[in-house]
This record gives sequence, C-alpha cells and structure tokens, in this order.
Amino acid sequence: MGAPEIRRVGVVGLGAMGAGIAQLAVEAGYETVGREVSDELGGKAYDRIAHFLQRKVDKGQMAAGERESALALLATTTDVSDLARCDLVIEAIVEDLDAKLELFRELESIVRPDAILATNTSALSVTEIAAAVSTPERVVGMHFFNPAPLMPLVEIVRAERSSDDAVEAAFEVGSRMGKKPIRCHDTPGFVVNRVLIPLLNDCLRVLDEARVTPEDLDTAMTAGAGWPMGPCTLVDLVGIDVHVHASEALYEKLREPRMAPPPRIVAMKNAGLLGRKSGRGFYTYE
Ligand code: CAA
Repeated sequence: MGAPEIRRVGVVGLGAMGAGIAQLAVEAGYETVGREVSDELGGKAYDRIAHFLQRKVDKGQMAAGERESALALLATTTDVSDLARCDLVIEAIVEDLDAKLELFRELESIVRPDAILATNTSALSVTEIAAAVSTPERVVGMHFFNPAPLMPLVEIVRAERSSDDAVEAAFEVGSRMGKKPIRCHDTPGFVVNRVLIPLLNDCLRVLDEARVTPEDLDTAMTAGAGWPMGPCTLVDLVGIDVHVHASEALYEKLREPRMAPPPRIVAMKNAGLLGRKSGRGFYTYE
C-alpha cells in the first residue's frame, strides 16, 4: 500500500487530547475535521482551540491572520461520514477497547482504502485495535502527550502489521506539526508510559509512606528532581481516571506490582475526583 499525501486530517474525539491534536493539525496547515458526539461538545472544542490560538496571538507567537487561517481550516461535525475525504484519521476517544474497535470498523467503511488510521491510545494495544479492520497495514499509533500543543513528543507506534508507508507518513505528519516524533514498536505503554506510569505510582505511594502532603511531594520533585511540574499536579492534569486506566492496563499486561494503581487514587476516581477536568483532584480548580 502506498501512503497518500496527507492533506486532510480527521480527529475523532475532541476532549483535551483530541482538541489539542486538532489544534496542531490546523496550525500545521491541514484541512481538519473534528468529530464529537454532540454539537455542544464540538463547539466547546472549537472554542478551546480558538482561545489557545488567541493566547498565542496575544503573546506575539502567532500573527492574527495566521490564527484566522488556522481556524478557517477547522470544521467540527457529529457525523463520522464527514471524515470520508480525510487522508489520515487520528482517533482520540475514550480508552475503551470495544469502543475503539467499533469506531475503526466504521472508519474503514467510510475512508478511502489508502487512508491512514491512527490511534492516540496511551495504554491499549495498537495491534489489537488494528485487528478490527481488514486492512491492518494502514493502522499505526500516534501517541501525543498532554497538553498536546505544548509537549514536543509524539510516539509513532508500529503495530505488528503496520506498513512502512503508514509509519513514515505518520512520522512526517508529526514532524510537520512541529513535534519531535520517535518510532517505536507496540509494547505495553510504548516508551514514555512504560517508564512514567510506575514512576508516578511510586510517587503517589510515597504520599502515604512518607506522610507528605501533595504540595510538599510536588515541591520535592520539582525542586529536588527538576521535574517541570510535580506528580500530583501532573496526575491532576492527565486525569485521575486516565491515569488509573493506564495503570490497570499496564498491570494487566506486565504484572509488575508498581504498575498497579495505588488504592488512594482508585478511591479518588471512584469518588469522581478526576483532577482538573472535574474541578477537584489532589488540588481544587476554579
Ligand atoms: N492546550 C493548548 N494550549 C495550552 C494548554 C492546552 N491544554 N495549556 C496551556 N496552553 C498554552 C496557554 O496559552 C499557556 O499560556 P497562558 O497561560 O499565557 O495562556 C501556554 O500554553 C503556556 O502554558 P504554561 O505557562 O502553563 O507553560 P509552562 O511553561 O508552565 O509549561 C507544561 C507547561 C509544558 C505543561 C510543563 O509544565 C510541562 O512540561 N509539564 C509536564 C507535562 C507532562 O509531563 N505531560 C505528560 C503527561 S503523561 C501523558 O500525557 C501520557 C499519557 O498517555 C497519559
């Protein structure tokens, strides 16, 4: 399969990650269609992107005309069939394997046979997702980091049956988005989460072991280990539910005790304390 030239990008799921990816796509000059389940959520994502681009204009990082041009490239829809003309579709929906399998099957029936299908999954297997479609060679992982517009890395994940063309096309898109792409194989947690998830879980266990407050733990890791943000702030940013899910998925696959989510954050997830997005996690947000 020859990979198509990528001109139109689809993003399915416009939560924090999907909206960030759509922002990167329009900033890179791709005509972009973002799909959400309701007009209200699509509108929220559009406003979020417009807001962050305005902040770039305010800070002299982007000209007002560039912002207008970028926003003119962005359309939102609730109808997956509006992605039919996309050369690349990046999935950023809920981390639920069945939901992703269903979506990939639907996408396969809509897009051209040579269009590339990418998943932004953090902890599920790209190979398992690719197995949902009859053309798994066109499926790759494009794993962005939160917040996507600010974090330079994107992991380009090769699944068992990904073609070289699909991997290289995704790599090119990552580069054109201004990211630092790396190539890796489809192993649990890929590169960063394989290391970061157990590390964050260790940090959260230390809260109880050393009887330290979240504020002091964050100070310890920023002032003593040079982290850009402390572990409690970071888990609040990523989302307690997302972190618990990623930990459980890695624990299920690797059976390493450090991968398992500490009971403290499982309880937070069950109580609806999901971090920034819910207004409360380790910290309280406006
Ligand atoms: N989307 C788009 N733009 C955003 C944004 C977002 N979510 N958040 C902030 N910005 C923009 C804002 O316009 C902001 O400027 P204003 O506040 O003036 O409006 C601008 O970016 C700069 O923001 P900050 O001043 O907060 O930037 P900073 O220099 O403090 O750096 C940071 C912020 C890059 C997030 C830094 O703190 C950092 O590197 N933190 C670590 C983050 C990290 O480790 N992420 C990985 C999480 S793990 C993961 O994602 C994997 C997974 O699968 C779950």
